[in-house]
Amino acid sequence: MSARAAEWNPLHLPDLRGRSYLVTGANAGLGYFSCEQLVRGGAHVIMTGRNPHRLSAAKAAVLGRTADAPHRGTIETLLLDTSNLGSVRAAAATVRHRGRLHGLLLNAGMVHPPRHRQTTFDGNELVFATNALGHFALAGALLRTLAAARGRMVWLGSMSTSLGRIDPVDPQLASGYSGWRAYVQSKIATTALGLEADRRLRAERVPVASVIAHPGYSVSGRTAGIQGVNEPSRLGRFVDNLQSPLTQSKEHGAWPLVRALVDPDVVGGQFWGPARVTSGPPRLAAPAKVTQDPAVAERYWVTCENATRLRWPFEAARR
Ligand SMILES: NC(=O)c1ccc[n+]([C@@H]2O[C@H](COP(=O)([O-])OP(=O)(O)OC[C@H]3O[C@@H](n4cnc5c(N)ncnc54)[C@H](OP(=O)(O)O)[C@@H]3O)[C@@H](O)[C@H]2O)c1
Repeated sequence: MSARAAEWNPLHLPDLRGRSYLVTGANAGLGYFSCEQLVRGGAHVIMTGRNPHRLSAAKAAVLGRTADAPHRGTIETLLLDTSNLGSVRAAAATVRHRGRLHGLLLNAGMVHPPRHRQTTFDGNELVFATNALGHFALAGALLRTLAAARGRMVWLGSMSTSLGRIDPVDPQLASGYSGWRAYVQSKIATTALGLEADRRLRAERVPVASVIAHPGYSVSGRTAGIQGVNEPSRLGRFVDNLQSPLTQSKEHGAWPLVRALVDPDVVGGQFWGPARVTSGPPRLAAPAKVTQDPAVAERYWVTCENATRLRWPFEAARR
């Protein structure tokens, strides 16, 4: 790794002018701050989200907060609800017609799952659909576009996957649902899918890297207040500050995500996270054992193919 890459400063990213990135869940949290950092680096950013008002507030906030950037990039917004496969397909079709795409940040996530199992319009378990299935469908639908630019996709993992023993035999949690289990399983899914995508992309000689990143423990209450984007209550700030030795802001949490997306030294199959696990600057880390199990990855891949009725077009994406 080069000396420049050993230190990471989001105010001095590699020159991203002429590069284009799509971020899911861009209107709040880690997705929002990733967009700020990318725009500051000169990139064109497609900010996606499921609510047009929240998206336009976020776009205005990024523009306001990056006005001093010497080579500020550009922004467009696009509606994309990751829990709805029709919405994913429509957004992917729009992006395919726009031209080049250098990276996908598969960030959107339901981090406070419902207590009782819910299903989407497409009949899939809601947390799995939002966090994993929609991203599988999006990445597959944009694979050829990414390959044309020798691009990269970044999946969002979580340290919660290392916190207990969950054997994800039932990806859609037809029985035994709990909100925590649904969340952890969805993050086992995104990590295992990211690693499996790397294996398949390499085997099929498709010039796209699949990388995983996690943000440690990043909380709103330790993050700058931004109108329409991050407005935690006083109580929220108080509670989040009580945990300050273990937590960091969402702005900091976005560092490993953006590094995984744009650092030229990053390669497919890597897993990036904060240096002190829950907080700190980005460094290479190790994914939880369960996510490295090829049988788990295969189960998720097949489940995603069946649920989305999509096979990734490896052959067509080969260059
Ligand atoms: N924060 C952490 O410490 C932490 C730790 C490990 C992993 N992560 C992962 O990091 C990602 C972002 O988390 P965060 O902390 O930034 O959460 P957040 O502040 O709650 O933001 C979540 C984002 O995802 C969007 N989203 C939720 N459901 C969506 C859907 N169906 N379609 C499109 N967008 C949707 C939200 O949009 P709306 O405003 O429309 O709801 C919002 O923009 C998640 O994948 C999460 O699992 C976070």
